[in-house]
Amino acid sequence: MQVVEKIAGMRHLRRQLAEPVGFVPTMGYLHDGHLSLVRAARAESRSVVVSIFVNPTQFGPQEDLASYPRDTERDLTLLTKEAVDAVFMPSAAEMYPGRFGVYVDGGKTAGRLEGACRPGHFRGVATVVAKLFNIVRPTRAYFGQKDAQQVAVIKKMVADLNMDLEVVALPTVREPDGLAMSSRNVYLNPAERRAALTLYRSLCLAQRLWREGETDAGLLRRKMVALIEKEPLASIDYVSIAGAETLDELDEVKPPVLVSLAVRIGGTRLIDNIVL
Ligand code: PAJ
Repeated sequence: MQVVEKIAGMRHLRRQLAEPVGFVPTMGYLHDGHLSLVRAARAESRSVVVSIFVNPTQFGPQEDLASYPRDTERDLTLLTKEAVDAVFMPSAAEMYPGRFGVYVDGGKTAGRLEGACRPGHFRGVATVVAKLFNIVRPTRAYFGQKDAQQVAVIKKMVADLNMDLEVVALPTVREPDGLAMSSRNVYLNPAERRAALTLYRSLCLAQRLWREGETDAGLLRRKMVALIEKEPLASIDYVSIAGAETLDELDEVKPPVLVSLAVRIGGTRLIDNIVL
């Protein structure tokens, strides 16, 4: 496995990689959710590239950029075991030199949900992913449905800007009790870890009510909110029932529907979703 820190080095290596090239962009501190993407890329590609880059432009000024968990040595050991061909691990100065100034706007999909709570977040995501696509030039890039809106923004960017690659979205990997795996779960103390289950429970409640025939989106939202509000450590950023492609809020559940939420558990902001 080759580890490359410079853009020129990654471009050079890319020219020697056998096609098709599968690519998994990450911010590191890898868990089984990330590794499920790496395994899919490995199964479907002759070469696999993973990037590890904690992208400063997608963090707001009050967010956890400085404290975002990092463990490069462990990440590289895990990726070696998955038979990854190359890891691209640039510095912030390499990706954003002082003269940097052109950004990719995430479009309308980027303004809702996560974008409304985290202004500029998807501009940072779209910009860095566009840069990574230009550097790595993958045949296919793999993303997790855990970040459903990120998938929607990137698919739209690839379509609207005519980027020549396929975006593959894969299911959310969960802990045995249902909590979605996330690098940020490491912030949770034991009481918060128990409280964090309220996200998944509220999604399961919405799914159950819908399966039983409930189509009033407002009612589903209210039931989810009521369940989460029973948890004293939880505070809601949003609970959304929206069209899976447009992300427009719905009055009536008409599949495909994205049920998504962002909840703070103590000081940690968690997101999760399911598609009906
Ligand atoms: P990061 O949070 O490290 O996630 C990297 C990829 O892993 C994303 O596609 C994310 O959706 C996926 N992922 C995270 N948790 C998952 C889970 N439990 N199950 C399945 N997939 C999961 O997302 C980012 O980094 C950044 O925004 C990035 C795209 C790298 C741009 O900076």
